[in-house]
Amino acid sequence: MKDTTFIEKTLDFSKNLDIDFVKKIIVFDEIPSTNSKAKELARKGEEEGTIVIARIQKKGRGRFDRLWESPEGGLYLSIILRSDCPPNKATILTLVTSLVVSKTINSYDLSSNIKWPNDVRVNGKKIAGILLESEAHENKVEYIILGVGINLNTDANLLSEKIRLISTSLSEEIGNSVDYYNFLKILLFNFDKYYKLFLDKKYDLILKEWKNQSDTLGRRVRINTASEQIIGKAYDIDQSGFLIVIRDSGECKKVASGDSIYIES
Ligand code: BTN
Repeated sequence: MKDTTFIEKTLDFSKNLDIDFVKKIIVFDEIPSTNSKAKELARKGEEEGTIVIARIQKKGRGRFDRLWESPEGGLYLSIILRSDCPPNKATILTLVTSLVVSKTINSYDLSSNIKWPNDVRVNGKKIAGILLESEAHENKVEYIILGVGINLNTDANLLSEKIRLISTSLSEEIGNSVDYYNFLKILLFNFDKYYKLFLDKKYDLILKEWKNQSDTLGRRVRINTASEQIIGKAYDIDQSGFLIVIRDSGECKKVASGDSIYIES
């Protein structure tokens, strides 16, 4: 069912927003994917700080071309950035975003943590995911799209069984429905704070906070990348956000992206 008031309410909310990095909010009721729309707009020159929001996504995209199930009740947004950073630092923005989402959830008196690279989890279940997409030419970033999907007031019955078993929502965890705009405001406010640190190249500080918020380091992990499987101890995160894994052979391996699975030793 189309919710015609969603666009009006969200535009109203955006008028009263006083957050430095937010320049424009573009709202859709239903859309295939906010990341795809943001990418289309960025290619046409849309400015840094433009945010695309949708109430429902019909073809929400997750990492590795997976479907991100996006029924009503969730928060789906994509931020267009054009920060003048080297492409190897853009990946830090994934960590920034997972940190910001996790901290926003924590402000609801709920403990959340991050599973490398970007799964935000509560009680071992996924509550949010982040999809960073970017385009760079000759070592210069043209645009970065930061897509964030959060199960806010998501009714588990609207999800497939496979996803239902491994995910949770904020409303399920706190036992109450959550004010969408209040959450969004805290999220954007927190993003502004950490994005400023990123622009100031305070990478060490960001990584330190990310490590405090993550439960990955020190664990025995299996990482599935596009080309191989890496098993070992998650040892550290490097300056680009890559995970450093020490294999049983003692070999040190840096992993740029992949799915991490915690395993018993
Ligand atoms: C993942 O964990 O696989 C990442 C999921 C990212 C989903 C968000 S929802 C808003 C934005 N638009 C998309 O199509 N995907 C991202």
